[in-house]
Amino acid sequence: MISLRLASVFIVITVLAAPWVRAHDENDPRHKAMTALTDNMKALAGMAKAGDVRRDRALGHADEIAATARRMLALFPNGSAGHGSRARPEIWTDWPAFEAAAADFERAAAALRAAARSGAVARLDAALADVGRSCGGCHKRFRLPKT
Ligand code: HEC
Repeated sequence: MISLRLASVFIVITVLAAPWVRAHDENDPRHKAMTALTDNMKALAGMAKAGDVRRDRALGHADEIAATARRMLALFPNGSAGHGSRARPEIWTDWPAFEAAAADFERAAAALRAAARSGAVARLDAALADVGRSCGGCHKRFRLPKT
């Protein structure tokens, strides 16, 4: 009896501790990464709108976006759907298409870095729009609607 109770306590603790179970926890790595993407995009859009692109700051934001793009697939391990997550099951049943969406994002993020480095407002503007299309393309296909 005691060992059985210990075993169930252990299971409960393990489940609670598994990072992917807490999809909408503040500490969920996917939530943190996606939220940071939005923050970095907003910061860059603000600079473009103000027509004041400080190259070092712009590149810092673009670098963060590009780094997230490179680890995008790792943010979606098998079995990380459900539990409040809006990840569509098609991510895993159609993994090559998800990989293609992530690759498109990585391409757009690399172009954003180049635009940020150039410091040219029009270039940054165009690159931001392209990245935004890439975010939206993936969300449209692979993110469930809000419930
Ligand atoms: C390759 C696919 C893909 C790309 C590219 C992508 N996302 Fe996402 N994003 C998702 C999926 C899938 C979810 C739902 C994840 C979940 O709920 O578990 C999501 C969720 C989010 C969320 C909600 C996070 C939360 O937990 O509340 C935000 C914000 C977000 N994305 C912003 C962005 C921005 C901004 C970009 C582009 C700069 C971007 N995403 C690019 C697939 C993508």
